[in-house]
Amino acid sequence: MFLENLFSIKGKTALVTGGSRGIGEMIASGFCANGAKVYITARSKDTVLETAKIISNKYDSECIGIQSDISTLAGVKELSKIIGDSEDQLDILVNNAGAAWAAPLEDFPEVGWDKVMDLCVKSMFFLTQELLPLLSKPASSVDPSRIINIGSIDGINNPEFKNFSYSAAKSAVHHMTRVLASELVSRHINVNAIAPGPFPSKMLGSAVEFDYKELERKNPRGRIGTPEDIAGLAIFLSSRAGAYTIGEVITCDGGLVAAAGHDLS
Ligand SMILES: NC(=O)c1ccc[n+]([C@@H]2O[C@H](COP(=O)([O-])OP(=O)(O)OC[C@H]3O[C@@H](n4cnc5c(N)ncnc54)[C@H](OP(=O)(O)O)[C@@H]3O)[C@@H](O)[C@H]2O)c1
Repeated sequence: MFLENLFSIKGKTALVTGGSRGIGEMIASGFCANGAKVYITARSKDTVLETAKIISNKYDSECIGIQSDISTLAGVKELSKIIGDSEDQLDILVNNAGAAWAAPLEDFPEVGWDKVMDLCVKSMFFLTQELLPLLSKPASSVDPSRIINIGSIDGINNPEFKNFSYSAAKSAVHHMTRVLASELVSRHINVNAIAPGPFPSKMLGSAVEFDYKELERKNPRGRIGTPEDIAGLAIFLSSRAGAYTIGEVITCDGGLVAAAGHDLS
């Protein structure tokens, strides 16, 4: 019942896609700070290697950067081969890499549909499929392996921005989480999703010119998310404390979904 047992992820090996910045970097940092070995991925080689170096040094830990584009099935297979060549088993997979696209309804382009759906939904499914053998190795009823899919409150509430493919994709991520959770629970692999609200990142920042004041004003908690908010939840889901939590979509949003429809002004 001690905290260090309940919430420990020490000695676990994790893969966080899109871990070079934003939410993925926050989760990778939380894992590394608490004794996990973490692989992070991104398309930009320089950035992912630099972030891995920073995290490794900051937390005296093993964070390994891998350059990888998982928007295609070929990229997904390549990444799982790299992981399989380095590791016999994987304890935690965080399907975090994502992209958004916003445009008015009449102008919304096919590329903005395909890019978002491919990365957020297709790649998430096929990377999970590819990594099942590695995730199955350490999985037991006492300590299941964990898959954490990063969805979004835009897949629950109507979105703030005109991101038609993104909100549909995130809704798909949430339901795919429940479907895969039911498929994999008997194999001792827990699948859950986190639906974040606003967190500082390139994706959200570029939509608001990196000025988060208005988003903070509209948030019931009065602020945007911090690394502690998202890493804490990911650590819970990956630890002994989260072993019996399966198929959930957990919001991490300062109350935006809970307060939807309430006038906060
Ligand atoms: N920030 C928020 O407020 C918020 C809210 C709700 C949900 N989310 C979700 O959280 C996740 C992370 O978002 P973020 O806000 O942290 O975004 P971000 O700052 O743009 O980071 C995205 C990460 O994914 C990587 N990436 C993008 N395309 C990729 C590809 N094709 N293959 C491999 N990696 C790729 C990026 O690196 P490269 O560009 O170098 O590839 C980067 O590491 C996403 O799933 C997003 O939908 C974010």
